[in-house]
Amino acid sequence: MDEGAMKNTEEKLLESWQANAEVWTTALREGKIVSREMVTHDAILNAIQSQSPGKMLDLGCGEGWLMRALTQAGWQCVGLEGASALVAQAQAASGCEILSLSYTAWAKKDNTRDFDLIVANFSLLEEELLPVLSAVKQVMLPGARLLIQTLHPSQVPGPYLNGWRSESFEGMGGGLWQKMPWYFRTLGAWLELLQAAGFTLQSLREPLHPESLQPASLLLEAVSKP
Ligand SMILES: C[S@@+](CC[C@H](N)C(=O)[O-])C[C@H]1O[C@@H](n2cnc3c(N)ncnc32)[C@H](O)[C@@H]1O
Repeated sequence: MDEGAMKNTEEKLLESWQANAEVWTTALREGKIVSREMVTHDAILNAIQSQSPGKMLDLGCGEGWLMRALTQAGWQCVGLEGASALVAQAQAASGCEILSLSYTAWAKKDNTRDFDLIVANFSLLEEELLPVLSAVKQVMLPGARLLIQTLHPSQVPGPYLNGWRSESFEGMGGGLWQKMPWYFRTLGAWLELLQAAGFTLQSLREPLHPESLQPASLLLEAVSKP
């Protein structure tokens, strides 16, 4: 994908987050997204817990719930977020430093290597992710981990083929949502992406929804290849 096309899809995606900022913040803070309350918040927190607190970058931090939780646990958190309305929410609620930038803009900067942990919680939504993952690699201190939580590919309706989809946010607690374009990846495509970006997979978890007994998410833990 050329840079112009990449910018275009990122702009559309961020436009939808800007439009959805308020309804998203309400849904999260009022616990309206059942899978998050029942499974995926704890899944990412548990995955982080095995590491002693240090400095964490929250990639696509949204309204900042994870930074609030980790700050309380002793982490120094920095958020990266491309929708300014969510930057404002995250800043006000967490008190953390938030970089108000798209991934593309951040990846072009000369960023300092000073993070022990990078988390992308349901925030890698585009087709072209190599530039941002390569930039992530550059800011990781020796021994740092990358945690990616995403929709489990087996639970997404439609053909099991990489490609653009549209999210309508049904079942996210009502409200007026703007549809969001996002790129579906098969499990194989996620693993190939990590490999291509220079990461080694350390673990792959599939947190189960306790009622449906289906995976609520896919949780990948990776480290930078030497
Ligand atoms: C589903 S929300 C998840 C937010 C948060 N990580 C959480 O767990 O609640 C995805 C977030 O990633 C941000 N995001 C996605 N792609 C981005 C990009 N290319 N540049 C900057 N932010 C991006 C969106 O603006 C949105 O806030």
